[in-house]
Amino acid sequence: MGKALEGVRVLDMTHVQSGPTCTQILAWFGADVIKIEKPGEGDPTRGQLRDVPGADSLYFTMLNSNKRGMTLNPKTEAGKKIFAQLIEKCDVMVENYAPGAIDRMGFPWEKIQQINPRMIYASVKGFGPGPFEDCKVYENVAQCTGGAASTTGDIDGFPTVTGAQIGDSGTGIHLVAGILAALFQREKSGKGQRVTVAMQDAVLNLCRVKLRDQQRLARTGVLKEYPQYPNGTFGAAVPRAGNSSGGGHPGWIVRCKGWQADPDAYEYVIVQAQAFPALAKIIGHAEWLEDPEFNTPEARLAKLDFVFAEIEKWTMTLTKMEVMAALNAVNVPCGPILSMREIGEEPALRKTGTVVEVDHPTRGKYITVGNPIKLSDSPSDVQRSPLLGEHTDQILTTILGLKEDEIQAARQQGAI
Ligand SMILES: CC(C)(COP(=O)(O)OP(=O)(O)OC[C@H]1O[C@@H](n2cnc3c(N)ncnc32)[C@H](O)[C@@H]1OP(=O)(O)O)[C@@H](O)C(=O)NCCC(=O)NCCS
Repeated sequence: MGKALEGVRVLDMTHVQSGPTCTQILAWFGADVIKIEKPGEGDPTRGQLRDVPGADSLYFTMLNSNKRGMTLNPKTEAGKKIFAQLIEKCDVMVENYAPGAIDRMGFPWEKIQQINPRMIYASVKGFGPGPFEDCKVYENVAQCTGGAASTTGDIDGFPTVTGAQIGDSGTGIHLVAGILAALFQREKSGKGQRVTVAMQDAVLNLCRVKLRDQQRLARTGVLKEYPQYPNGTFGAAVPRAGNSSGGGHPGWIVRCKGWQADPDAYEYVIVQAQAFPALAKIIGHAEWLEDPEFNTPEARLAKLDFVFAEIEKWTMTLTKMEVMAALNAVNVPCGPILSMREIGEEPALRKTGTVVEVDHPTRGKYITVGNPIKLSDSPSDVQRSPLLGEHTDQILTTILGLKEDEIQAARQQGAI
């Protein structure tokens, strides 16, 4: 059985994180992803946050698995010719350089289309058309401008960015969806098209529940499931909500046994309406079920601080894993706060291939996150990332049919 995207060739002009996450997913699905890097330099992340001197960083290796790598400078004369030939031979081109960078190389969309009308040309930019369209953007800029930072953090604290890379990796995943849709449409139309995702838009899409709340706030002046209710005040915009749930059932983080020494000895507990009787009983408050002050979700809203304090008295007698077991046994949704150390060692995640160990010729063994999207007929295995220029000659020979002397000439010009 082949892979889902077998036969799809991707010209990967991406760097740093957002673009590489997109092409890595395409590679896991079986596409032949050819990562193009500047000769002698490569993707800047190869050298960033290095833990093994002289070896490609984890930043690079964890975002570029299953790809082939070649060096090419499309700003040189020979490089332009090779780049145009690659455009002809590829199905998808992905890039996330600064606005206008690929145009400045001499390859605007019109020209790409001319060379290969079936090409799907996918780009990540920080912003869509508008006042900021020319700006360079990194992860946290997108989190701040897409609504994540203003709605995340302590209720009286600073706007806060999240550790989840929703601006970079989140945009890359959105781009994958666009590319797959365009590949599907090409089956019928025979034509390629442009796919663009702005990081601000991707973050906003992931924050859509907060735009929901903005409109509820404007209409009613209050958000009853937020910790500001009933004692605090609401302003004109959706406030930061601490650890409260973004959904229709209240939730909060409570301490568990050992919290004094372990910064991750906590549990997220959700007071789901239908699970409330079981939760009340297990924490020793069966009387709440007969008490109109507690026995409806509406009545509890104004007392959530007290309810979670009582839940915490119980969770502090147990470890987070014991809380997980006890609450799930009675169908109460909850989750332990897992550290990266615990996640990296979790046997279930190793078994499903979500966390995998990879060997690398210069850095040795490391663990990475495998494909979280599981296809029953197209399983993903993780292959190490390419060294800089590792497959240059192979690609020029087998895909473009270049002869040894042509390759040498291109190398002498600094094109590869
Ligand atoms: C991420 C970002 C801020 C980095 O900015 P940067 O380090 O200044 O890099 P740039 O994108 O400006 O590219 C630098 C240059 O490298 C050049 N370059 C890229 N690949 C090349 C290659 N193979 N050979 C020769 N030159 C190359 C570009 O053409 C550009 O040159 P130019 O400015 O003369 O046009 C910027 O690329 C960006 O905003 N990207 C879009 C949004 C994005 O994806 N952000 C998240 C990244 S995780």
